[in-house]
Amino acid sequence: MRRRRVLLLGAGGRLGSDVVCAHAASGASFDLVPLSRQRLDLARPDAVAKALAHADFDVLLNCAAYHDTDAAEDNAALAFAVNGQAVQRLAEVCAGKGARFMHVSTDYVFGGDAARRPLAEGDPTAPVNVYGASKAFGETLARLALEDLVILRVASLFGASAAHAERGNFVETIIRVARERGELKVVDDQIMSPTFTADAAAIVVRMLAAHCPPGTYHVVNSGAASWFDFASSIVERLGVDATVTPCRSDEAGRRALRPAFSALDNAKASAAFGPIPSWQDALGRCLQARGLAESAAPKRVPRASAANASS
Ligand SMILES: NC(=O)c1ccc[n+]([C@@H]2O[C@H](COP(=O)([O-])OP(=O)(O)OC[C@H]3O[C@@H](n4cnc5c(N)ncnc54)[C@H](OP(=O)(O)O)[C@@H]3O)[C@@H](O)[C@H]2O)c1
Repeated sequence: MRRRRVLLLGAGGRLGSDVVCAHAASGASFDLVPLSRQRLDLARPDAVAKALAHADFDVLLNCAAYHDTDAAEDNAALAFAVNGQAVQRLAEVCAGKGARFMHVSTDYVFGGDAARRPLAEGDPTAPVNVYGASKAFGETLARLALEDLVILRVASLFGASAAHAERGNFVETIIRVARERGELKVVDDQIMSPTFTADAAAIVVRMLAAHCPPGTYHVVNSGAASWFDFASSIVERLGVDATVTPCRSDEAGRRALRPAFSALDNAKASAAFGPIPSWQDALGRCLQARGLAESAAPKRVPRASAANASS
């Protein structure tokens, strides 16, 4: 019998590379076929249909994106091409082939919830930056193009893979700055859902294997944190003699606005695919995988005093 084929875009990225690992480790009953940017460049939406014309697949999993939140402010056309128009074309190709489209999106489609409660899949989107607007646009265009659509919203990804080391992420940055400077200043007015790519990828593979019902799912580790909370936890667990001090977003000097509150409620994904570990548990496993912590338990409480590094 023919095995199901899942075509993967963005296989070299932080999430995509962990999906490849999770698939290999799972012994799943489907084939995962990566398609490189050289074969399909999403910056050219008009070339998408031709590039996929002869491709044979049952599911298209899109982990590719234009994802530089600050640079997107000055590159809106590119962000909207890759995260919007190309996503529409991918969805149309899937509709034409009778294939499922699984598309990865972001907590940045939300803009800050006055109620300060974790956001559910059906909550209204309200992006506050170009990247978030381009991803929300992509979600909408995909929904218009086909019904067999799964949207996975992830958030604030961290991980232990080579892709994270090469492309960078918050954990890598905090470890480097803590060691080099011994003090960090990190924003405490943005609340989000830190998410370990290995955990998100394992759920993605389970969703593919189970052929989950179509719809939107929040695939994030449980719990919420400010970037200051997250940084403090990293420094504690590392046992580095560094000081973490909270600051406001307007002191951080970032080009793009970030949502003040974008923590996601993962109850729907947890109910369908099993409990999702807390971000604290995931951080311990991530640091262990990098050989940086012997246990998931914090080692020390960092001093609090003035600092000059920023997140
Ligand atoms: N990282 C986060 O904290 C975060 C948070 C929320 C949501 N997300 C979402 O999660 C998904 C995965 O993010 P990630 O962090 O894994 O991204 P990433 O590490 O930046 O990887 C992005 C992937 O997309 C590919 N790509 C970029 N531009 C492309 C283009 N024009 N044509 C074809 N492929 C292109 C890259 O190809 P190359 O390998 O050739 O560079 C890479 O494989 C994205 O949808 C992103 O919006 C990420």
